[in-house]
Order: sequence, then C-alpha cells, then structure tokens
Amino acid sequence: MDGTDQSPANLILLGPPGAGKGTQARRLEDTFGLVQLSTGDLLRAAVAAGTEAGKQAKAVMEAGELVSDEIVIAILRDRLSEDDCASGVILDGFPRTTVQAEALDALMFDMDQSIRAAISLEVEDAAMVERISGRFTCGKCGEGYHDMFKTPAVEGVCDKCGSTDMKRRADDNAETVASRLSAYHAQTAPLIDYYDGKGVLARVDAMADIDVVARDLNTVVRQATA
Ligand code: AP5
Repeated sequence: MDGTDQSPANLILLGPPGAGKGTQARRLEDTFGLVQLSTGDLLRAAVAAGTEAGKQAKAVMEAGELVSDEIVIAILRDRLSEDDCASGVILDGFPRTTVQAEALDALMFDMDQSIRAAISLEVEDAAMVERISGRFTCGKCGEGYHDMFKTPAVEGVCDKCGSTDMKRRADDNAETVASRLSAYHAQTAPLIDYYDGKGVLARVDAMADIDVVARDLNTVVRQATA
C-alpha cells in the first residue's frame, strides 16, 4: 500500500444482506492486495466440514438469524492470526453486533493494529430481495454472479476460472432474506454510529452500478490508507 502509515490497512464493510459486501471485497482484494475475511464464508465452510461450530451454526443460518458471538469471534480470531492476514484485511460480515465490535477492538489492540475505515454500503431494503434471489457463485473460485446484474460471458461458465460448478446458497430465499434484513437492522445497523463515534466511518451509495460503487470505494480506501 502507498502512504505514510505502514501498519496493516484493516477495513470493515458494513451493510445488509445483498448490499454488495462480498462483490466489492473481492475487488478491493485485487486492487489493494488485502485479504477478504467473510464470516459467512468461514461459517459455511465450517458447516460443510461438519465441525462442532458448523453443526451449531447450520440451523441458525438457515433461519436467517445471527450465529452466537462466541462461535463467530472464535472463528474470526483464528483466521486473523494466519500469516496471509498480516498486511491487512477486509472484514466482510463482521462485526455484526456490539459484542463483536468490542471483541474486534480488543483483537486489534492485542495485535497493535487498528481499523482504518468502516465503510457503510448504503442501500434500500426493497432492492435486496431481488439482488439475493438472483445471486449465484462459482463453486471453485468463489466469483459472484447475478441472473440480471452480472452474468458470465458464457452462460454457466465462470469468467475467472472456467469452472462450470455454479452454486446457489441455501439461505437465499425470500423468507430467510426478510429475517436477515431484520437481524441487520436490529443488531448490526447500530454499528454505523459505533464507528462514526470512533471517527473511521465512511458511507458509499451502493444502489449504483457495481463498477460505480467500486470506483467510489477505491476513493474512500485510498484516502483511508494514505
Ligand atoms: P453472510 O454470508 O455474511 O451474508 P449476508 O451478510 O447476508 O450478505 P450476503 O453475502 O447475502 O450479501 P453481500 O452484501 O455480500 O452481497 P453480494 O456481494 O453477494 O452471512 C450469512 C449468514 O451467516 C448470516 O445470516 C448469519 O446467520 C451468519 N453470519 C455471518 N457472519 C456472522 C456474524 N459476524 N455474526 C453472526 N452470524 C453471522 O451481492 C448480492 C448480489 O447482488 C450478487 O449477485 C451481486 O452480483 C449483486 N450485486 C452486488 N452489488 C450490486 C450492485 N451495485 N448492483 C446490482 N447488483 C449488485
């Protein structure tokens, strides 16, 4: 990263389901050489692997509710301690509660690091059901697509890695999305004020086209990491 502050450039992407956190985190990884840490992806991997944490998380995720702070903080702490995170991470889907935000502050303090920016992706709830129900992902490399907003150049074939193994998530249905949106407003939206109070909050209009959102995010991240 350019700039005078050489400490790791840790960023948070805040936003409801469908806001574009995963889509934009993958672009920021490529542009800024940071590592995306998605607690949703880590939990889905734990479910698929059948770990104890995964067994406890499965039904909660399928209901669109939040997994316990204890489980998520433990998973995040383990992942954050891996070597590839040393030059900075983009937290996608964490923190989601005040308890998680305070645990993250403590982890950052222990590692002598900080959060450079918490970026709120601002969207309208009404558009999120359409975004989520049209979503699919490459099962091999994780590249995200959408039936209307981002289709692969060749139908059914990943632009990035050429795989034809496309997947849809079990929790991407209208009822679960409603629960996920209400969990966001009740438990996660208050973190916007939490990070505003710390002077690291930025807001980006995420109703715009994916490329426009990416451009605006790049501007925010450049300023935050300069
Ligand atoms: P998680 O995996 O984090 O899901 P989420 O927060 O619900 O977010 P999504 O992945 O659905 O949306 P996104 O913002 O990444 O949007 P995307 O870029 O894919 O969490 C799942 C579950 O795990 C939770 O419900 C909970 O149970 C549990 N969990 C996870 N973390 C937890 C935590 N910290 N604590 C407790 N529990 C936790 O975009 C969506 C679609 O829209 C894509 O198809 C994309 O192509 C398209 N799109 C993106 N941007 C645009 C745009 N600007 N215009 C048009 N289309 C767009």
